[in-house]
Amino acid sequence: MTIIKPKPTALITGFSSGIGLAYAKYLASKDWDLHLVSHDESRAEIGLKALNYSNTNVYLYDLSKPESIKELSKSIPTPNLIVANAGITKYGEAGTLSSNEKLDLFYLLCNGVIDLIESYLPEMKKQNSARIVIISSIGAITPMPKSSIYAAAKSAVHSYGESLSKELKDRNISVTVSLPGYVRTKAHKRAGLDHLIKKVPSWMWIEADQVVKETEKASLKGKSNIIPGLVYKLVRPFLQMALANSLWNRITRRRT
Ligand SMILES: NC(=O)c1ccc[n+]([C@@H]2O[C@H](COP(=O)([O-])OP(=O)(O)OC[C@H]3O[C@@H](n4cnc5c(N)ncnc54)[C@H](OP(=O)(O)O)[C@@H]3O)[C@@H](O)[C@H]2O)c1
Repeated sequence: MTIIKPKPTALITGFSSGIGLAYAKYLASKDWDLHLVSHDESRAEIGLKALNYSNTNVYLYDLSKPESIKELSKSIPTPNLIVANAGITKYGEAGTLSSNEKLDLFYLLCNGVIDLIESYLPEMKKQNSARIVIISSIGAITPMPKSSIYAAAKSAVHSYGESLSKELKDRNISVTVSLPGYVRTKAHKRAGLDHLIKKVPSWMWIEADQVVKETEKASLKGKSNIIPGLVYKLVRPFLQMALANSLWNRITRRRT
C-alpha cells in the first residue's frame, strides 16, 4: 500500500504582485497547496494569471482592518507556513497622515501580522511543527525620514518576530524576519515614489525572486532574520554610523 502524504500548505498575504507573488511562484514550483490573500480583485486576477497554478484558494480581505484577520483565520485552516508579506509603502512628513491612515498602516504592517500569527499559534503548537516568515524591511533598522510610521511598524514587527523566534524554538516552530532593502516591485510606484526608481542606483535594487530564495533558505535553517542581497549584507554593520546614514538618506531621499 502506498501512503500519499498530504501536500504542505502555505498562507501568503499580499500575493497579487511583488514579493508575495514571487513567494507563491516558488512554492508552486515545489507543489505546495496555497491559500493566497490580497485586497483588490482585479489585481488578484492578474496575480493568479501570472502564477498559472491550480492548487490555490484565493481570498480578498482588507488586511488593514482587524475584522478581516478574524474572518480570514476562520476561513483558512492552519497552514504549515505563514508568509506575512502584505504591505504598502507610505510616505509623508510626520504630522501629515490622519489618525485613521496611521492606524490602518500600523495595523496592516504590524498589529495585523501579530493577530494573524497568533490566531494560528495554538494549533501550530499542537502540531509541534510550522514555519512563519515575516517580511519586514531594512527600514526596521535604519531611519526613514518621511516614512517614519512605516519604519516604526516594520521595526516593531521585526522585534516581535525576533522574540517569537526564541520563544518558539522548543516547539519546532521557526520564525524568520526578512529585512529587504530596495526590491523591484510595484510598491514604490503605488506609493507615488516613482522618482526613487530612477534616483536609487541600480546596484541597490534586488529582485523579488532573490528575496524569496534567501528568505526561504533562512527559514528552513531556522534563522531568526535575513537581510537579502549581498549589498545590504555588506552595508548592515555601517547603518548605525552617522556618515553612512547621511549618505544612505541622501541617496534614498523622499520628496517633500
Ligand atoms: N519593494 C521594496 O522595496 C520593499 C522593501 C522592503 C520591504 N518590502 C515589503 O514587502 C512587502 C511586499 O511588498 P512589495 O514590494 O512586493 O509590493 P507590491 O508589489 O505592491 O505588493 C504588495 C502586496 O500587498 C497587498 N496589500 C497591500 N495592502 C493590502 C491590504 N490593505 N489588504 C490586503 N493586501 C494588501 C497587495 O494586494 P493588492 O494588490 O490587492 O492591493 C499586494 O499583493 C510589503 O510588506 C513591503 O513593505 C518591500
